[in-house]
Amino acid sequence: MNRGLLICLRGKDLLRKSTRAVQHKIIRHYNCEAESEIKRFIAENTEIVRDQSLTPEISLRLFTVKCRFWTERPELWPFPDPFWAIYWPGGQALARHLLNNPELSAGRKVLDLGCGCGASAIAAKLSGAAHVVANDTDPVAAIATKMNCELNGLEPLPCVTENLIGSEPENWDLILLGDMFYEETLIDSLHNWLNKCVKLQRTQILIGDPGRAQFESHEIKKLLYEEAQFDLPDSVREENYGLTNSTVWSYRPEN
Ligand SMILES: C[S@@+](CC[C@H](N)C(=O)[O-])C[C@H]1O[C@@H](n2cnc3c(N)ncnc32)[C@H](O)[C@@H]1O
Repeated sequence: MNRGLLICLRGKDLLRKSTRAVQHKIIRHYNCEAESEIKRFIAENTEIVRDQSLTPEISLRLFTVKCRFWTERPELWPFPDPFWAIYWPGGQALARHLLNNPELSAGRKVLDLGCGCGASAIAAKLSGAAHVVANDTDPVAAIATKMNCELNGLEPLPCVTENLIGSEPENWDLILLGDMFYEETLIDSLHNWLNKCVKLQRTQILIGDPGRAQFESHEIKKLLYEEAQFDLPDSVREENYGLTNSTVWSYRPEN
């Protein structure tokens, strides 16, 4: 991992760099690893960060300049692309909004879809949610999320790694989506599925996004209502192509 690769992670062509051969090797390698080995790898290759985000109350294991893979060759990274090692600006705004408004989570059943490092799920749990499930299709993100729960004095949250988009909607009170609107096809499928979740289960949907182009130009924008906007800290701005703020939207297709 290096700064160039981290920038690529934040950009539009999200980490499509590995060759097919390297990806096969990654997957085989991952399948052979025990969870404890992966935890040790995460602990060795991340730094605990607390005060450089919109939610200094939450500690997270993230990539920083002090980590080996900041300068190491990306092809030596043995797992799928580590989206979970970044606290994305959309997730930061969402977690900040939840901590500012604990009534949004308190006593409720919450799903954090595309949890990455798990910060939004952690914010919901810290705000008194009755039941929180973190979901990410990357199994390493699920392990990182459990480790981040422990860092914040929480029992590890249940983490599921199935692709829930398109599945039969469950009775979630609240679905959280931090920085999940970065690819056209992903936004299309999310739009369809979220629409069903609202119509069939009356689920409340909150989205955090820093104004990514694919999101801004998508028709879903017409069904969103602004709940809050946050100025990003200087360090987050520097690492995110000059993005300056991040917004929390509620998705209300029936209004
Ligand atoms: C840009 S990151 C955002 C992470 C986190 N929500 C945040 O804001 O910091 C997107 C995450 O979504 C996950 N992801 C992508 N497609 C997914 C899907 N269909 N279901 C669940 N997670 C998915 C990726 O693995 C990645 O961790």
